[in-house]
Amino acid sequence: MITQTFGAETVRLTTPKSGNGSRVVRNIVRRAAILFTAIATAGALSPALAEDGYDLWLRYAPLEEASYATPRHVMAACSDPSATIDAALDEIDRATQSMLGEALPRADTLQGGTLVLASPECSGMLENLPLPSSYEVGVDGYAIKEIRHSGRQITLISAQSDIGVLYGTFDYLQRMARGQNFTGVNIVSRPKTQLRLLNHWDNLDRHVERGYSGQSIWDWHRLPGYLDPKYTDYARANASIGINGVSLTNVNADATVLTPHYLEKVAALADVFRPYGIKVYLTARFSAPMELDGLPTADPRDPAVQAWWQDKANEIYTYVPDFGGFLVKANSEGQPGPQDYGRSHAEGANMLAAALEPHGGNVMWRAFVYSAEEPEDRVKQAYTEFVPLDGQFADNVLVQVKNGPLDFQPREPFHPLFGAMPETPLMMELQITKEYLGFSTHLAYLGTLWEEVLSAETHATDQRAPVASVIDGTAHDYEITGMAGVANIGSDRNWSGSIFDQANWYAFGRMAWDPDASAEAIARDWAELTFSRAPEVADIITGLMMGSREAVVNYMTPLGLTHLMGTGHHYGPAPWVDDLGRADWTPYYYHKAMKDAVGFDRTETGSNAVDQYAGPVAQKWAGQDTVPDELLLWFHRVGWDHELDNGNTVWEELVRRYDLGVSQVEDMQTVWHSLEHEVDAERFEQVSAFLAIQHQEAIWWRDASIAYWQSVNGLPLPEDVAAPARDLDYYKSLSFPNAPGQGE
Ligand code: GCU
Repeated sequence: MITQTFGAETVRLTTPKSGNGSRVVRNIVRRAAILFTAIATAGALSPALAEDGYDLWLRYAPLEEASYATPRHVMAACSDPSATIDAALDEIDRATQSMLGEALPRADTLQGGTLVLASPECSGMLENLPLPSSYEVGVDGYAIKEIRHSGRQITLISAQSDIGVLYGTFDYLQRMARGQNFTGVNIVSRPKTQLRLLNHWDNLDRHVERGYSGQSIWDWHRLPGYLDPKYTDYARANASIGINGVSLTNVNADATVLTPHYLEKVAALADVFRPYGIKVYLTARFSAPMELDGLPTADPRDPAVQAWWQDKANEIYTYVPDFGGFLVKANSEGQPGPQDYGRSHAEGANMLAAALEPHGGNVMWRAFVYSAEEPEDRVKQAYTEFVPLDGQFADNVLVQVKNGPLDFQPREPFHPLFGAMPETPLMMELQITKEYLGFSTHLAYLGTLWEEVLSAETHATDQRAPVASVIDGTAHDYEITGMAGVANIGSDRNWSGSIFDQANWYAFGRMAWDPDASAEAIARDWAELTFSRAPEVADIITGLMMGSREAVVNYMTPLGLTHLMGTGHHYGPAPWVDDLGRADWTPYYYHKAMKDAVGFDRTETGSNAVDQYAGPVAQKWAGQDTVPDELLLWFHRVGWDHELDNGNTVWEELVRRYDLGVSQVEDMQTVWHSLEHEVDAERFEQVSAFLAIQHQEAIWWRDASIAYWQSVNGLPLPEDVAAPARDLDYYKSLSFPNAPGQGE
């Protein structure tokens, strides 16, 4: 028996029997056991120093004996370096001080063993340095090469811009921190997307919508007078993974941020971020002309409204000369928009785009829309509204599309808009904060979720056309490209609420830079930087991360079930809810479970949402025998006795998956425990405590879900499966009026 606490309430739950753990997790458990034994035998390892997570992946842990070509000096190839080159030099100081015991001395003249930073703007001091071409590195990519120059062996970090040099410097230092050997190094890296943005859902009162890591880091009240040093560390962290834009405010926007009083504060943040190559963006409330200046309308065809936005844009650029542009949520979940005046999304977006265009700014217009009148299956609506507008958006508009057609669920098919708008640049929006995957206490590495979406084949062109190729622009020759991630950053000392959630911030940056990047390689890099470069430790942590999202899917929403979370806050299970203001906010809408069947028919006998995908995808997902089990109940309504390939009925398989999810969390606990002597006490304890919460909540999900399904289908559990600890009424009676997210 274990004790479970729900808010003020404490209940006792029976731990269910473990299901079959996946092979991957079992292997990790085995490896962890070996490591544990090895450590116990060695006996003498002292626990690492306590760390609070503030330093993120930029800890620069001391290196043992340097076994690589460590430079002996550093120099920038210009006498008057820009603030960006200065930031790179500072980072080298900080990192080498920490890793090598003393900062690399700065050299004025070239010597053997010098690390040289150079770009077209920073090259005056050294003649004929071989800078990479724009063809190789684009605007902000870089090269890191060991070369001979003027008879000396040097390592050159070079680019077509100073920001490219800063990115190269971060890459170099992170490689050094992972113990890479630089002899003969020859790295060229170029981002595949142009706009790589964090979207903060932060309100001006510092409340963060769907935030699980404290308050907003933007201290609006003290800005612009006080610049928290955290802002610089935030910029460093973002630059270290290539993020080059930040939308500061919630998509459920407050027009106040567009007033001069706030623009001064925005300008102060922009000044801090500029050396790190980060532009600021703001969310634009469509009704701002009415709210701020009393215009009678916000109709995008009204010349006075157009002039208002032009003046506003001009004004913003006087505060922030390199302002990035507007992010807009319009006619979605009660937000005002052009449809209030009978105008289309394109007309609304183009009006803002025209105001920004003279200054080089962009509009990111969100496609997260669904009608208040519920005319059709919610997951179809964005496609229905936006596909007819393809080709109508101005050149500086990107349409920002969530990874899936519903709302950041633990698993969804990719959004059918990807591949369906060849004339309109589509950005992908990912959610780094884990609104639907257990908030900050559940360990869920999202790299695998994003990789699954990005590598999905759209069949949008004659060539191979995975979603990644839509995002990086190659599938349709988009002129502008980008990716956005809803930030998980807050005032918590560790930034992201949990240590492992830092990995999701890190992975977002890496995948925005390269949408084809491997989730596993990213996890390993992060594990080495964040915890330890000892291969056996990094192996174990990587394995733990790689299985973690699937564990969440198993105990929350297996077999394509979706949106079963508690109303409003989305904390915990509530599949029984069927009576909210609108049907498509209820879990029942998505599973439609009855005595005989479960699932949402999205084939031609139902909503036919599957038809929004290109032929081969639609065909595969439309067949009950060809759709992967993982998406079965998303696309199909089947009998509880429908047989799967493995011989189990849907009912048996559901129950098995819940048990599997719980046992996977138990395995994660075992694995983590094996690292007790490898990780500093502070971070070890926090992760352990969070895993214990995750375990309790996984059991809660399993028990409440099974109790509910049984109340509907009346089916017995397989003999070897434990009954839920409490009856359904108990789970239904739980309420969490103060859970984060309530009321959002
Ligand atoms: C989700 C989330 C909201 C958010 C919305 C959006 O529905 O729960 O808090 O505002 O997405 O992306 O606009």
